[in-house]
Amino acid sequence: MDSPRQRILDLREQLNRHNHNYYVLNAPEISDREFDMLMKELEALEKEYPDMDDPYSPTHRVGSDLAEGFEQAAHIHPMLSLANTYSIDEVDEWFGRVRSGLGGEQFDVVGEMKYDGTSISLIYEHGRLVRAVTRGDGEKGDVVTDNIRTIRSIPLQLQGSGWPDMFEIRGEILMPWKEFERLNKEREFNEEPLFANPRNAASGTLKTLDSREVARRGLDAYFYYLLGPELPANNHYDNMMAARSWGFKVSEIMTLLHSLEEVDSFINRWAEERRELPVATDGLVFKVNSLRQQLNLGFTAKSPRWAIAYKFPAERACTKLRYVSFEVGRMGIITPVANLKPVLLSGTVVKRASLHNEDIVRQLDIHEGDMLYVEKGGEIIPKITGVDENGRQPGAKPIEFVSHCPACGSRLIRVEGEASWQCPNKFGCPPQIAGRVEHFVGRKMMNIDGIGEETAQQLFATGLVKNIADLYDLTRDQLLTLDGFGPRSAERVLDGLEASKQMPFDRVIYALSIPFVGDTVAKKVAKAFPDIDRLMAASAAELAAVKDIGPRIAESIVEYFANPLNRSIVERLRQAGLQMSLPEESDEGRSDRLAGKTIVISGVFQHHSRDEYKEMIERAGGKNASSISKKTDFVLAGDNMGPSKREKANSLGVPLMSEDEFLALMGEAEPTE
Ligand code: IVH
Repeated sequence: MDSPRQRILDLREQLNRHNHNYYVLNAPEISDREFDMLMKELEALEKEYPDMDDPYSPTHRVGSDLAEGFEQAAHIHPMLSLANTYSIDEVDEWFGRVRSGLGGEQFDVVGEMKYDGTSISLIYEHGRLVRAVTRGDGEKGDVVTDNIRTIRSIPLQLQGSGWPDMFEIRGEILMPWKEFERLNKEREFNEEPLFANPRNAASGTLKTLDSREVARRGLDAYFYYLLGPELPANNHYDNMMAARSWGFKVSEIMTLLHSLEEVDSFINRWAEERRELPVATDGLVFKVNSLRQQLNLGFTAKSPRWAIAYKFPAERACTKLRYVSFEVGRMGIITPVANLKPVLLSGTVVKRASLHNEDIVRQLDIHEGDMLYVEKGGEIIPKITGVDENGRQPGAKPIEFVSHCPACGSRLIRVEGEASWQCPNKFGCPPQIAGRVEHFVGRKMMNIDGIGEETAQQLFATGLVKNIADLYDLTRDQLLTLDGFGPRSAERVLDGLEASKQMPFDRVIYALSIPFVGDTVAKKVAKAFPDIDRLMAASAAELAAVKDIGPRIAESIVEYFANPLNRSIVERLRQAGLQMSLPEESDEGRSDRLAGKTIVISGVFQHHSRDEYKEMIERAGGKNASSISKKTDFVLAGDNMGPSKREKANSLGVPLMSEDEFLALMGEAEPTE
């Protein structure tokens, strides 16, 4: 039997291999379950043998929430862009320029996909990933190593052999379509702003400070450029094949092309077939293969002469308007939607497109049965960009905005200064009520495990839940009558409801669906009025006196609590046991030891979490700042403090204080675990 220490090493090796099989080769050899079992075993052993800890262990891919802002680093070689072309003719012209640039010499070209994500530069030393930097301004970018480490298709430790001691590899970080759709669906449900396309989603995710969130988002990466003083081959293609053998994901599409004819047929083939790919692409890239020839051709100020991008045309379709529907949201806002004759656009069928509000319908001057232009461009959400007036039928009437709610028949109102029409029937209009139930259970609100969009709709449709307070009267037997519900799912909902009673007061305020009260406003309101009775008694003037709360929001809150139906819902929620006040602040640990001091926290700590240190500083009257400046009194420096922060502190003469020194200062001389 192996020693546990040997077993740790074996498990790491196995898990790295399986990660590579799964994420890079797309060819797993074991089931997810078996993988999880190996991972669990490794986690347990590493816990037992903390001296064997290694930041390169596959268990460290889950991420941490330590990052705080990003440091910047200069690129070794500036990250340039590519010259764009939009037609085969232009690519052919580039080919001609290369030929004459090389004095008529024979040359090969590598054809590649142009992946539409966000570019990254990775530095490897002695086979290990040491730094990941975003493109930034091309000269310097953000150091996002912690986030990059969570991407499972990026090797932390290289495989095979022959890699140079030090090299840089560049590639594109992407969010696969599937993952993008899942994320946006989740964000829609949680009322977070949607990402317009996978590119924004990928770059937004890379800039997320919490790498655990990054780990959850399923990013992927393709690599297309190897740089360094000693590369394995004298041509781009072989270098990329070597990179593949070290564990990098290098696209299978990458092809060596020997003539202009082959370049052209590559374009024709992939302009179509790219639609089948799991990730977004916006064109193709052609690169001269020989590194010697690349060197001869050189660079312009902005881009290499040895490479060119061919961009796919933006896709536009023209289709017939069937009818305009008017949809009612949680707050009663009416949104006009164009229902179209289905049309294929950038690989998906488009049937509907939002027209946003009455003003937009007017501006576009849409008439019944019009032929409409739909575009997707880089955006995934289809947009109506215009009307083909030649396609208008004689006598077609302009689209009229409805005057009554399509769901409940109430007369609509338009609030002064707003673009949207609203249904005022808050308590009788079905989609509004169902929408509020959905909002209430959402992740950023009461986070009721077991009730998703579908169940929320079902609860409303069956009449079991007519308002949010009814949720807490649900019984097991009632839940069992729902379609697709068994004892397990019923139990899960009941547990979720029970757990939601611990959600803090500000979440409860947010979950109520008070117009204009989002999560940030809810937090501010809760802080200023820390219990519901005080909040319900507050006047508009008192509310508006709170920082960042304008008269609009203040009035909306007063109006909400003035309504007896809302008051009775709040009362029932209170009876059910929800948190209706913020916990009293205790005086424990309060002092003025750090009064007037500005402190920056950096690095990793042994005895308390960063958040705990932050709180300690605030309780002692100090201020926690995120970046070092002349105003910083000292840096609370843990392990692994970034070199650039250290340098900055030195150059400004800001002293560093160790964790133990700080605890001693705070009167916690001998820290206990
Ligand atoms: S090569 C010096 N190859 O496109 C040449 N770039 O417009 C460096 N991109 O910043 C780039 N796919 O983010 C190269 N196969 C590919 C690419 C690619 C996507 C992106 C990359 C770059 C931008 C240039």
